[in-house]
Amino acid sequence: MRIGILNGGGDCPGLNAVIRAVVLTAELRHGDEVIGYLDGWKGVLEDQSVVLDVPRCRDILALGGTILGTSRTNPFTIEGGPERARANLASQQIDALVAVGGEDTLGVARRLGDQGVPVVGVPKTIDNDLSGTEVTFGFDTAVQIATDAIDRLRTTAESHHRVIVCEVMGRHVGWIATHAGIAGGAAEILVPEVPFDVDAVCERLQRRHRGGQFSSIVVISEGAVPVDGPDAESARLATSGTPLDQFGHARLGGIGAWLASELEGRTGFEARTTILGHIQRGGTPSAFDRVLATRFGVAAVAAVHEGAFGMMVALQSGEIVRVPIADAVAKSKTVDLDLYRDVAGVFLG
Ligand code: F6P
Repeated sequence: MRIGILNGGGDCPGLNAVIRAVVLTAELRHGDEVIGYLDGWKGVLEDQSVVLDVPRCRDILALGGTILGTSRTNPFTIEGGPERARANLASQQIDALVAVGGEDTLGVARRLGDQGVPVVGVPKTIDNDLSGTEVTFGFDTAVQIATDAIDRLRTTAESHHRVIVCEVMGRHVGWIATHAGIAGGAAEILVPEVPFDVDAVCERLQRRHRGGQFSSIVVISEGAVPVDGPDAESARLATSGTPLDQFGHARLGGIGAWLASELEGRTGFEARTTILGHIQRGGTPSAFDRVLATRFGVAAVAAVHEGAFGMMVALQSGEIVRVPIADAVAKSKTVDLDLYRDVAGVFLG
């Protein structure tokens, strides 16, 4: 078979591990040829690809980023895009396409799949917001990076008796904030799923201070919003002037600084902000993400050979399974509120 592979959207630790697993499984187990499309769907539209073989995949398992490059190109926003994508895949004689991505990239995969493109999905995102899988690769690494940062922020916050607001990624969901907040012993965890009340946060911080704890770590997702406030994307659009990407997303970032200023103004406690940003996406994947990405890559090739097109490989109860891509992208997987309220809630404030 001749298999194409692409990754789209934000990069993510473990992408190269998936590429390696797909190439080695396809070539060594089945005698397939693999080509990699450059920069996601852009590479398909422009027919830009490279041959991927076993020697090319040597030493990339632990490498961060993606050797294929990535973009947020959406063929469905480009005149004639889907037709061009289908024609280019046909002219390259692609028998199957492995699309590695989050809701946007896999949303395109689903639509092209409906038009007859034989596609298998692999779930990728540090945000962990794809339905159908318990976890996406990249999430574990991002949580560890955020936890390490919180540990460091804690010692300086304690030295200076400060509130430090740590803003983490999470456009629509607060998985990174919740896990890193629990792991880092945060005083507050604020997520997009539960709009926050600034006065209530101030009251809890004041109670901590009265109890003798003069420093606090507040972890907030970039997409978290105050009650009565505008949603984060509208607020950013109104103020930042940066263009939307081809999937209609505004650039986020800045809610943490806003909150720190509100907290300082309302409580008098000195506050600082750290935005972790792309540090959470860069660098080498954790061992867990390398293993998960490898399992997904091997399973994706098996799905290709069994003709399981329109399906995404996923992790459920520790096992690799297949779920329809359509189900995975139908709605975001939001934070488990039992975890947020019943577990994290015990330690907050
Ligand atoms: O990959 C998802 C994500 O990490 C979101 O949490 C974040 O809003 C977005 O990517 C930022 O991506 P970029 O700045 O690379 O466009």
